[in-house]
Amino acid sequence: MPLSLLERIAQAIYFFLPAYVANTLPGIFGGGTPLDFGKIFVDGRRLLGDGVTIRGTLVGVAGGSLVGALQGDLLLGFALSFGALAGDAVSSFLKRRMGFERGAPVPLLDQLNFVVGALVLASLFTEIPRDYVIILFVITPFGHLTVNRLGYHLKIKDVPW
Ligand code: CTP
Ligand code: MG
Repeated sequence: MPLSLLERIAQAIYFFLPAYVANTLPGIFGGGTPLDFGKIFVDGRRLLGDGVTIRGTLVGVAGGSLVGALQGDLLLGFALSFGALAGDAVSSFLKRRMGFERGAPVPLLDQLNFVVGALVLASLFTEIPRDYVIILFVITPFGHLTVNRLGYHLKIKDVPW
């Protein structure tokens, strides 16, 4: 791989670090009261499910925003973090509507929901280079699976995906 591409990938990861942190922390520190407070949607299924919690959301947004602040852009860090967890919640909403139980694997939706959410929200505050978007969509599913497998082996997660 040419060095310039590797550098570009590293820059894209650095840019997206608040979203990665926001998406990872809830799995470690989340739990407790669900964000939907147990509410049932009109289809008789949970609105979001027990996998989207108040604590996880707050810890994720706070942690990701902190990373953004350390990078020198709190607002962008907040947008990336909030967008990541909003995207994750939207995907849980869609999974429940499709009849999938909490935690059921839906390939690509599970790995990319937060990327879409974070990029959409961040794009309101800054212009995101086109190649960053491509790089993030390509590398994130691999990174996601690697991190989840690690969490499974460290007994932080119940399933390796
Ligand atoms: N989590 C949380 N709060 C969030 C997001 C995640 O507490 N806003 C925690 C939950 O413990 C969740 C875990 O992180 O189980 C993994 O997140 P995710 O894979 O998105 O949730 P799932 O349990 O797979 O549920 P879903 O089917 O809704 O995706
Ligand atoms: Mg999941």
